[in-house]
Amino acid sequence: MTAAVPAPAPSAVVDRIMAVMEAAFDPAYGEAWNRRQVADALLLANTHALVVDAAGAAIPDSAGETGAPAGFVLTRHVLDEEELLLIAVSPDARRRGVGAALIEQLFAAALARGTARIFLEMRRGNPAIHLYRKFGFEPIGERRNYYRMANGERIDAITFARSIQ
Ligand SMILES: CC(C)(COP(=O)(O)OP(=O)(O)OC[C@H]1O[C@@H](n2cnc3c(N)ncnc32)[C@H](O)[C@@H]1OP(=O)(O)O)[C@@H](O)C(=O)NCCC(=O)NCCS
Repeated sequence: MTAAVPAPAPSAVVDRIMAVMEAAFDPAYGEAWNRRQVADALLLANTHALVVDAAGAAIPDSAGETGAPAGFVLTRHVLDEEELLLIAVSPDARRRGVGAALIEQLFAAALARGTARIFLEMRRGNPAIHLYRKFGFEPIGERRNYYRMANGERIDAITFARSIQ
């Protein structure tokens, strides 16, 4: 029997994610994914992307070439756990609730697919911690010197978790 091959994510979805990705991440930390990594990740049936506009409204995958993206979140679920892989908002759309809208919509979508707990990992010192704490993520562990910056320096990783059921 041949395994079903999932359909690739529409390239407009990858385009929208990459438009935010390329603006949002500081190259010093090497956190941004390239187009190939995003497209490959979205081939996996358990990997989910949510893209929103500057008003925090979801842009449906079917939107074709339309829709001006301001933020996205990528997650992967396994059984009843989900890992937040990346969240980003374009610099010119920050501090206007777009990140909060992404987290709220993620919680709703994750709950609907049976997720009980969401995990994420963050480099120590990332201001994203304020968003995560606001939404009830609690630190549950640390990995010393886990990330390596572009200049070779090491930064700890902090793991957070949040129950949503
Ligand atoms: C983290 C990030 C997604 C937040 O997006 P955002 O749209 O600015 O977040 P919001 O406006 O919804 O913020 C909601 C709340 O989170 C907190 N918050 C968000 N960013 C903050 C910051 N830089 N400093 C302090 N608090 C912050 C605040 O409590 C804020 O509410 P307030 O503005 O009413 O005070 C965005 O800064 C970003 O893309 N960063 C670069 C990418 C990144 O490092 N992602 C995380 C690792 S994958």
